[in-house]
Amino acid sequence: MDFTNKTAISTGAASGMGLLFSENFASLGGDVVMSDVNEAVLNEKVAAINAKGCGRAIGVVCDVRDYSQVCAARDRAVAEFGRIDVMANFAGGTAVRMCKVDRVKYPEFPDVPIDVYDWGIDVNLKGPFYFAHAVLKQMREQESGLIINIGSITGAEGADYGMDYSTSKAGLMFGLTKSIAQFGAKYGIRCVCISPGPVLTRPAMANMKTMLGRAAEPQEIIDLCLFIASEKGQFINGENIMIDGGRNAMKRS
Ligand SMILES: NC(=O)c1ccc[n+]([C@@H]2O[C@H](COP(=O)([O-])OP(=O)(O)OC[C@H]3O[C@@H](n4cnc5c(N)ncnc54)[C@H](O)[C@@H]3O)[C@@H](O)[C@H]2O)c1
Repeated sequence: MDFTNKTAISTGAASGMGLLFSENFASLGGDVVMSDVNEAVLNEKVAAINAKGCGRAIGVVCDVRDYSQVCAARDRAVAEFGRIDVMANFAGGTAVRMCKVDRVKYPEFPDVPIDVYDWGIDVNLKGPFYFAHAVLKQMREQESGLIINIGSITGAEGADYGMDYSTSKAGLMFGLTKSIAQFGAKYGIRCVCISPGPVLTRPAMANMKTMLGRAAEPQEIIDLCLFIASEKGQFINGENIMIDGGRNAMKRS
């Protein structure tokens, strides 16, 4: 795969899969706009990619919940690289975990303060929606582009506590992805959702069962993203692809 003269924006690029995607895209010759809220770590990771001397990386501090910051990230990408070929929405996570909610104090869904769930819905769903709205202007102009949303097996399964997460991910997997594809087709723009089962960006994910008896290595998820972005993946569009070791097909007994 060769992404020379291609530009990607990745959200959540300071850690986990957003970072790995950025590293891979640049190592294959592409330029990458890495955005995250964690400025210190982001700057360090951007410098490490540039030190390798393949594709170029720039860092843009951007909270995906803030539309003006999202537009600024898009504008920076266009100013630096002239185009946006891939928009990859990795920023996300379950609010009760990310906001460190005390399960003893807040045992069930209705007990958790609503602002915790606001965070989850805003980051996981509104963020990709905002980025779609912002980058589609540029992609329409250039008459090409790919938006990759990151769903989750939890979007298909539901969750009785992390309800923001299951709700948001389902919105990406089945509503937003198809809708963007419907809008984008006449402009040569594609949209695909990739929905992992457990991924070892955290050791705890090894506890989640799959049919194959293991969690995914992060690289397995990124390889699929890169394939879809590459010349070989151009016919994949408007679809949610589960990459979950068969968890979605397991017997519910
Ligand atoms: N790890 C898994 O098992 C798994 C499974 C299914 C889906 N996913 C999804 O994959 C994506 C990446 O997961 P990961 O485990 O690599 O994540 P991670 O926790 O390692 O990284 C998430 C990044 O998002 C950033 N972030 C948080 N809030 C933000 C905001 N408001 N604006 C911008 N950036 C923000 C964080 O600083 C962090 O760098 C997420 O959307 C997650 O829901 C993960």
